[in-house]
Amino acid sequence: MSTAILSALPEEQSSLLQHLAHPHRVMHAGRAFWCGELHDRPVVLALSGIGKVAAATTATALIEHFGVARIVFTGVAGGVGDGVHRGDVVVAQDYVQHDMDASPLFPRWELPGYACSRLACDTALTAMLFEAANLCVTSASGLWGLKTIHGDAHRAHRGLVASGDRFVSTAHESERLRTALRDAGHDVLAVEMEGAAVAQVCHDYGLPFAAVRTISDRADDEAHGDFSQFVQTVASRYAEHMVLSFLQKL
Ligand code: ADE
Repeated sequence: MSTAILSALPEEQSSLLQHLAHPHRVMHAGRAFWCGELHDRPVVLALSGIGKVAAATTATALIEHFGVARIVFTGVAGGVGDGVHRGDVVVAQDYVQHDMDASPLFPRWELPGYACSRLACDTALTAMLFEAANLCVTSASGLWGLKTIHGDAHRAHRGLVASGDRFVSTAHESERLRTALRDAGHDVLAVEMEGAAVAQVCHDYGLPFAAVRTISDRADDEAHGDFSQFVQTVASRYAEHMVLSFLQKL
């Protein structure tokens, strides 16, 4: 059975497509799905689309129509945790939806019907992805001359990631979001716009899910400029490197 590799943006997917053996494109639900093999492993490459609903549709199609065995998400995110810098990588241990608020019917951030706020990623896949991410960041400066602004080496982190239908692009919003979640016991490392939706779909179908996000910006006032530049120059190489070494571990 295939492994689905989901990316949020075409730039993130482009390098993987170049490695795809026996590629064939299938159109379904208004989306292109690329079936083939990477490192002799059957895969389906897909774009999640942007935002939680688009990502949920893509994940559902991967499960219902393509019968994938697991879903792995690669993409970019804004770093909000202390010490989570641009060029670092965050492997999601679990997910929260930072814009979920059915209060006062349910506690803030709780997923109605799930009796919890956080959905965990698959432990084994996450461990493999974390290994691949560590390999990637340690070779990043050697491979691509990627330098950190702060002088330290790039790091792979593992922890809670928050998704919501907002591109977080001011320091004020980022701080407010992070502090409110932290005060409720949810210490978030990064924010993005799709992962929690895919985690929820996979939870519903009982499918293993793992996600890795390269930090493209700090979700602050410079986030927009940082984001565009980063996606074009770095994200696709990170995705290629991490996914290929992850698949070899499967
Ligand atoms: N993906 C990458 N950067 C992001 C940000 N600042 N907010 C939401 N999603 C992102």
